[in-house]
Amino acid sequence: MIRFDKKNNLFILETPNTSYIIAVIDSFYLGHIYYGKKLSSEDADALIRLSRADIAHGVPSVNKRDKVGFLDNYPMEYSFAGTGDFREACIDVTAENGDQGLELHYDSYKIYPGKNALTDLPSVRGCEKCCDSLDIILKDDVLSLKVILTYSVYKDSDAITRSVKIINESSETLHLTKALSACMDIDMQGGKILTLHGAWGREREITEVEALPGAVVAESKRGKSSAEENPFIALLSDKADFDNGEVYAMNFVYSGNFLAKAARDQSDKVRMVMGIHPFHFNWELRSNESFQTPECVLVYSDKGLNGMSHCFHDLYREHLIPEKWAHAEKPVLINNWEATLTNFNKDILVDFAKEASKLGLDMLVMDDGWFGNRFDDNRALGDWYVNEEKLPGGLKALSEEINKAGLKFGIWVEPEMINEDSDLYRAHPDWAFHLKGREKNLGRNQCVLDLTREEVWNGVYSQIKTSLSSGNIAYVKWDMNRALTDVASLALPAEKQGEVFHRFVLAVYRMQNALLADFPDILLENCSSGGGRFDPAMLYYSPQIWTSDNTDAIERLSIQEGTALVYPMSTMGAHVADCPSFATGRTTDFETRADVAMAGTFGYELDIRNIKDEEKELIPDQIKRFRIVNPIIRDGDYYRIASYRKNRFYDCWESVTKDKEKAIFTFVEIHAESNKPSRKIRFKGLNPNKEYTLSVLHDGRARKKGENASGLDGLKAHGSTLMNAGIIINRMSDFKSLQILLH
Ligand code: GLA
Repeated sequence: MIRFDKKNNLFILETPNTSYIIAVIDSFYLGHIYYGKKLSSEDADALIRLSRADIAHGVPSVNKRDKVGFLDNYPMEYSFAGTGDFREACIDVTAENGDQGLELHYDSYKIYPGKNALTDLPSVRGCEKCCDSLDIILKDDVLSLKVILTYSVYKDSDAITRSVKIINESSETLHLTKALSACMDIDMQGGKILTLHGAWGREREITEVEALPGAVVAESKRGKSSAEENPFIALLSDKADFDNGEVYAMNFVYSGNFLAKAARDQSDKVRMVMGIHPFHFNWELRSNESFQTPECVLVYSDKGLNGMSHCFHDLYREHLIPEKWAHAEKPVLINNWEATLTNFNKDILVDFAKEASKLGLDMLVMDDGWFGNRFDDNRALGDWYVNEEKLPGGLKALSEEINKAGLKFGIWVEPEMINEDSDLYRAHPDWAFHLKGREKNLGRNQCVLDLTREEVWNGVYSQIKTSLSSGNIAYVKWDMNRALTDVASLALPAEKQGEVFHRFVLAVYRMQNALLADFPDILLENCSSGGGRFDPAMLYYSPQIWTSDNTDAIERLSIQEGTALVYPMSTMGAHVADCPSFATGRTTDFETRADVAMAGTFGYELDIRNIKDEEKELIPDQIKRFRIVNPIIRDGDYYRIASYRKNRFYDCWESVTKDKEKAIFTFVEIHAESNKPSRKIRFKGLNPNKEYTLSVLHDGRARKKGENASGLDGLKAHGSTLMNAGIIINRMSDFKSLQILLH
């Protein structure tokens, strides 16, 4: 899978369908030769010629008078700043004498089976049987700096992971002012750059712009991966669509500030980089100290966006999400947030649980409001002990009652935050991030705790541990409701303040690790004001993430489309909420809401005691349907068929089991048109030679239960017919949906 061609100085990395080729150029620099569809492994000679032809200005050993021209044009494997490559650099260093910049040259390499976990950071998991790794060691002789580029290649995946370790081998102190994780110089004319731009309630909107000269940047300086931009960027060939064309994608296994940039350079190549954002980053590297960057995942697909999604989904399911949950059915839950906000008590929750249990749900999640003096969202964050006025007998008594009603019990926490109106703040006002001499900047009336300080970390975690130990808790929703500002730590000297953003993220990871070690059976769900921290690093700890606070079924379609482009369907927290939607004022069918929520983890977020009887009656059947469709959605291949963000009228997607025995198809009409009574839809990913039966599980057009309004129920046809001729879907009406099982 990985080999070194000694004769030609080439590193050849092969995945089942792709090749990634790195060359040592001029016996000195590390250049990028090729990434794309698999090549014949016999062609190293031709490749090295290709790499030479690419050297517009000649290698420095031959043409020293124009070394800068070479450095600024050659496709580099890990670009460095200050010595001639004016494109985006991956690394920059300030020496003790103030000199900035460096020049990295090739030193040596190591190929080994398996993959080492990254110190203190989540990363894609590896084992000796499933992957091989390559370390390429680069050096800067003047700084005595060693840089190890690590690549891992999986037997069952076309993804490649990359990370970098930077070691100061000098006796001086260096400052790392930039340390990105990966660079790709791609030779592509034309094309588009895709990012997942968004906002609270509008997370991960697929945004495509032409790859013109200049840069497209997706970045976060908010201390979290953010709702505004996702740590993802992709370069698409001109005609790329759901199923065709080339896609080069990068996804960052990190939850803090990040930079993802794609820029067309002067020689028409596109340089893509990804890593920790250099904003307020300055890492002191004393003699013999090292810095480990987070991991970046690279995917190449020649089968368009669906091909790319399959690759990310499979990698994350098999090698990132905690193994125990990757293929497990998650409990169907009722969450009280939208129904009660913080205004609940034990009786209300027990009533919720009794009602939910009758209808066939599995778990009750008590959201924000159970602790300290939390009667609204202005106070008590930091006081992680139960509010006995609301919950007499504490979590023990409450969880017992919920369990008695037949449900598991889950709970909400927000460990990174503190309100000024809290006992914790009154005892330790200096525990919140603040800048000397300035008033603290509040967000949702709260401050961020400096978790990089040991006493703060312990002070918070010990409280949470005690509370979680006091009842029978099966699930934790970990929230994070504001971005980081005023980032300075009292525990660090002035020259280390540029480390605080990253140290904070490491402290969060450490706490999630501790939580899972102390409570190994807990199902953890991450959340950040909805989907503000939906990234692969969070998936390393929690198999699901709340996708968005926007629970309007129609808005959810594009949020879930953007999310599922990269992240497995099984990871998307999705609930049926009440209508009119608090987010949009829109009213949609109860069944449409269920069909949309079934694309993710599935649950309810409404006042289950007081919804209309006709809605209540639908719940047992919806749960029955969920149990049929979830294994297909959770473990199968996801295909986007149409997107209303593109066509404005309808949305549809499909999941097919790996053995192609079953598929589940969902269609949602957004805007019904007059005089356009039907739509033709072609299925994807089926076995052309197999005959499938269509069973309509829910038909938004039917006026009464069991009516075959679509005319599709019971239809039998081969995969080839369903994929090529397709089916006709009759017009329903706005916000109605259709769910079909193919088997
Ligand atoms: C965030 C979450 C919500 C809910 C509230 C509670 O907004 O996204 O689901 O938990 O916090 O304050």
